[in-house]
Amino acid sequence: MTALLQALRRLPLPRSVAVPSPSVTAALPRASFERARPLELRLDGVVKEFAGRRVLDGLDLTVPAGQFVAVVGRSGGGKSTLMRLIVGLDRPSGGRVLVDGRPVSGLRPDVRLLFQDPRLLPWQRAVGNVGIARGPGWRERALAALDDVGLADRAEEWPSVLSGGQRQRVALARALVSNPGLLLLDEPFGALDALTRQEMHRLLRRIREEHGFGAVLITHDVAEAVALADRVLVLREGKIALDLDIGGPDQRPDESAVAALEARILRDV
Ligand SMILES: Nc1ncnc2c1ncn2[C@@H]1O[C@H](COP(=O)(O)OP(=O)(O)OP(=O)(O)O)[C@@H](O)[C@H]1O
Ligand SMILES: [Mg+2]
Repeated sequence: MTALLQALRRLPLPRSVAVPSPSVTAALPRASFERARPLELRLDGVVKEFAGRRVLDGLDLTVPAGQFVAVVGRSGGGKSTLMRLIVGLDRPSGGRVLVDGRPVSGLRPDVRLLFQDPRLLPWQRAVGNVGIARGPGWRERALAALDDVGLADRAEEWPSVLSGGQRQRVALARALVSNPGLLLLDEPFGALDALTRQEMHRLLRRIREEHGFGAVLITHDVAEAVALADRVLVLREGKIALDLDIGGPDQRPDESAVAALEARILRDV
């Protein structure tokens, strides 16, 4: 697969997308999106089994619309499985997953999932990747989303020439373009260096404030969970072992409180 991608990157790709003059992107208003309609998430006794092996064991959870929740837990503990159920890529073996009060029955544009790897199409430029769903006015919306993540000037680049952090920002823009009410983030910063991670944290905080979506962030990094989320959950043995309220964006804990919260979470992971 890697060899195939490398071969694809070496191909002389057609310049099929017209390059806009810099004034076109410069003229775009920043954050030209309406605020999202935040969506409530509810898990009702959710069970997931693979070949008789129980990964999620009766999860009950309500995430109010607009809340930012982080989920930490050991590797193999079912975190990605949970995300796939919420976004509608898989079905629970038992119980119900409800978004906005309705059972999830498949993918929907206002619930978006961001993976650890950006999963960009190498034969599409940044703008083409962001606007991949096309539809009327896609290009303007894609350019505005790229502007939103600080990449307006890289819209015409191929993914192969972007850095890891920039590629992940393109993936974030691709999620934002459909104005999600619920954004799911499955270790999106795991592969980035510490400085780039912090930049991404700032970006995510700002974008969340501007757009108003709710989010579920999976992370191995307890400090990241406490830094970004209003609430931290520990998933252990298929159940929620800890549900900790951190406080909203305007009530961030101070340094000593953060250290105490981190110690408390690490005890339960
Ligand atoms: N499609 C599948 N078929 C069979 N088993 C699966 C499938 N998807 C996940 N599993 C199993 O379910 C368990 C949970 O996997 P999952 O990917 O959800 O863990 P995770 O918490 O995201 O781990 P990590 O932190 O390493 O990403 C693992 O034992 C995994 O092998
Ligand atoms: Mg995972």
